[in-house]
Parts: sequence; structure tokens; C-alpha cells
Amino acid sequence: MDYSCKLGAANKLKTACLVVGVFKNNRLSPLGSSLDEATAGQIQGILKRQDFAADLGQTLMLYEPRDCAAVRILLVGLGEEKGFTPRQFGLALLPAFQLLDKSAAADCLVLLPNRQEDEDTYRLVREAVSAAESAVYRFQQCKSEKTPEKHPLKRVHFLAQSRAQQNAGNRAATHGRAIGVGSALAKELANLPGNICTPTYLAEQAQALARGKRKLKVRVLSEAQMDKLGMGALLSVSRGSRQPAKLIILEYKGGKPESKPVALVGKGLTFDAGGISIKSAANMDEMKYDMCGGASVLGTLAACVELDLPINVVGIVPSSENLPDGDANKPGDIVTSMSGQTIEILNTDAEGRLILCDALTYTERFKPAAVIDIATLTGACVVALGDQASGLMANDDKLADELLEAGTDCGDRTWRLPLFEEYQRQLDSNFADMANVGGRGAGAITAACFLSRYTKSFKWAHLDIAGTAWVSGNNKGATGRPVPLLTEFLLRRCNASM
Ligand code: BES
Ligand code: MN
Ligand code: ZN
Repeated sequence: MDYSCKLGAANKLKTACLVVGVFKNNRLSPLGSSLDEATAGQIQGILKRQDFAADLGQTLMLYEPRDCAAVRILLVGLGEEKGFTPRQFGLALLPAFQLLDKSAAADCLVLLPNRQEDEDTYRLVREAVSAAESAVYRFQQCKSEKTPEKHPLKRVHFLAQSRAQQNAGNRAATHGRAIGVGSALAKELANLPGNICTPTYLAEQAQALARGKRKLKVRVLSEAQMDKLGMGALLSVSRGSRQPAKLIILEYKGGKPESKPVALVGKGLTFDAGGISIKSAANMDEMKYDMCGGASVLGTLAACVELDLPINVVGIVPSSENLPDGDANKPGDIVTSMSGQTIEILNTDAEGRLILCDALTYTERFKPAAVIDIATLTGACVVALGDQASGLMANDDKLADELLEAGTDCGDRTWRLPLFEEYQRQLDSNFADMANVGGRGAGAITAACFLSRYTKSFKWAHLDIAGTAWVSGNNKGATGRPVPLLTEFLLRRCNASM
């Protein structure tokens, strides 16, 4: 989708659809009011009939409006004007874009609902772009009929009131579009089933992503190469699978050669059956999403390329399957990680930490400024935070605050959980340096405690995205999270965000 910000008179600009926000009590924004005045008061005329209450997300399509170059006018309820937020704007626009997506309109022009002196143009446009992106996304790769549904919407324009607003809006459109590209890549990879999206496939997609991009390089380590590095924890997980594990390493070099990279380490478990500690059958299909952390790393690097961000970023994706097999890990097995620490595998279903610990040790060689791992790591995190916030745990308060703020700003939120030293005891093992599970309580935290033993040499944050990476039920599908959060974080590190 293309996005840009325009100036001009709303009634004179040619478009398939003018999208006009309406606050409760028939209140129009400044741009909405001027449109109404220029078109003989027809909008207020309709509002006076009281059919349209302007509830958040309510829509009313008008055809062939008078004195207006637009083919349609779509009224969109924005809810209460008092305390109106950019987030509210995004929520209101989602059903509007869904409606447009089913119409024959190829473009639309959205009136910005704020006053000229307000500073929230950037955020309003960012919210609108992410609403548009999620409204038009469909997973079609595995459908035999590729084009049954209408999909004409190609360009979304925004109408601003001043040059300054237009500039802020255009910047937001650029950032929002890039995040849309990155999120769509993450969704597409995540929605693919385990028999297609294997570790080898994921590695090939990383290579495809880097093709022709000067600033992005990819390397893929084989099991033999990982064996030489001593990645005994990672390789123990993949032993039960016929698909060879891969360690995918992406390097985006947009910053000064000497500036230390941010490292993003994403769990790329392409299917998690639990191994010998096998999962129950219900909803096991959703464990194809256990590679969403890895997909978000690829998506974020795609956004970096789109934005040509002036920063160095390393993406590391340990990728494997976790299946039961005669050669699979058994409860009680003890393996030696690349760090030299030994691990007693009490539950083979706690495999994410086993592949991540070796990937995190490997990350040391990049001398990273900060490391963020992203993983669908624990069901316990879903219990704690549900689908609203990703779990955030960190060994550095400043890094944690940066992520918290970035998430709040872009609406891809996190919530911090503590890593008190006392929790570490839960990982005590009688037979090895640590166990891979920590008992019943605080499952999301003890998983992070496990990882913390491999991240002592750098600033590190862990994102548990088990509850946020996809939605279940009738609308089952990947969300693309936390690509918006990670890109926002990187934009802020480049001082490019607002
Ligand atoms: N991939 C799962 C975590 C998961 C489960 C994410 C359900 C989303 C929904 C992970 O590998 C896992 O199985 N974790 C176990 C850990 C336990 C054995 C300590 C879990 O959460 O049950
Ligand atoms: Mn598991
Ligand atoms: Zn898993």
C-alpha cells in the first residue's frame, strides 16, 4: 500500500472516497467543517437526522456527494472528542478500511482530525497506516484460488492543513509503510504451516530477503558448524527431527562501521510438538507459530532496509523443530551448552530456552550495544498478560524503559516482570548446573532466569510474545507483533521517531 500526505481543499481533490471523521454530538474536525461548508452543509444535514451516532468505528457510506470531487464520502465515528487519542483514531479507522477494502475504491483521502496547532499528526498517521495494513492483510499463499476477493485499495492519502502537518504526516507514512512491510513478512512466514516453513525454508527466506540489498548480509550455519561451536543445547532439540536445524545470522550495516550493533535474537521453532514431553492435541496446530520471534527478526530487518536506518543491527534466528522421536531429548538428559554450562532437561517442551541459550552465547562475538531476544516462550506469559502486552524482562533498567516507552508510543505494548535473584533457585538441579524448568510458579520469569545465565556479558532484554504473536479462534492468524515495537525502538535509537 502507498501512503502520503496532501494539502488542498477537501471538496476539490479527486478521490474514490473521502474519509471524514465525526465526533459524538455531531462535532466535525476543522477539515471536516470546511468540507461541510464547501459542500452546502450536506454532512451536518445527514447528522441532524440522528441515524449516525458517531460511535467509535461506526461507518456510513455516502455516494455521489454534492459539490465535491470525491466519488464517495465515508463518515467514520470517532467517539468522544474530549480526550481523543491517536489510538482511538486507529481503532475507528480499522472498520472503515475493512469496508473500503470490500468496495471498488482504489484510493481514499482521509481527513486528519486534529487541529493545526496540535502536535499529534505523526501519531495519528502512524495509527491510521497500521489500521489500513491490518485491514487489507490476507494470507493467500496456501489457497488454490488466489484472487476471489476484491482488493482494489492501493493508495491511502491523508489531508493536512499546513506544510508542517504535511511533513510530519509524510514521515509517519514512510515509517508506517515500512513497519507494514516488515509486519506483513512476519505474518506471512508465521502463518505458513510447519510442513512448508521448516528451518531450511526460514533460512532460504532470510537469504531471499537479503538478495540485492547492499546493507544486508546473511549467513546460515549448518548443524555441523553448530556442532563445532559446541552448541549442544540447540542441537539436542533438533535431534528428534528429520529437518536439520539452522542458525540464521543477518547483519544490517546502516550505521558507522565502528558503532556497536543492536542484536535481535528470535526463537525460530518451526513446530513445537513438545518432544517426548508431548503436548496435548487441542490447538497443537498453533505451535506452527513457535517461530514468530524469528519471523519478527526478519520483519524488523526488512523494515530497517525499507527505512535505510542509520544503525547497525544483527539478527540471529536459531531454528529447529521439536518433535518426539527415538533420538529425541528425554526427560533427565543432560546437555552441555556452548557456554560450557550444563543443563538437565526435565521437560523437553521447554525447548525454546535451549535453542536460545546457545544463540545468545553466539551473540557475544558481535560485541552488541544491546541484545533483545524475542520468543513465544511460555504459556505462563499468556496467563499473566493475555494478548495485550508482551512480557518484558531485562538485566538493564534503561533498556527496559526504552522498550516500555517505544511500545506505549506505537501501541505494541510490553509490561515488565521482575527477575529477582531469589527466582533463580527454582532452576537448581541435583545433577547439572541448572534445570531447564523452574516448577509451577512464575513460569515466564523462570524461563527468563534461565536465559539470564547466558546474557551476563551484555545489556539484555527478553520479550515473551507467547500471548501477542498470533490470535486464536475464528480470526486465527499472526499479528506481526512485535515488529512495530522493535522498529519503533530502532527508530528512537536513530532519533528518527517522534
Ligand atoms: N512454545 C511453547 C510456549 C507456548 C505455549 C506459547 C502455548 C504459546 C502458547 C514453549 O516451548 C513451551 O512449551 N513452554 C512450556 C514450558 C514449560 C514446560 C515449563 C509451557 O509454557 O508450557
Ligand atoms: Mn515447547
Ligand atoms: Zn516452544
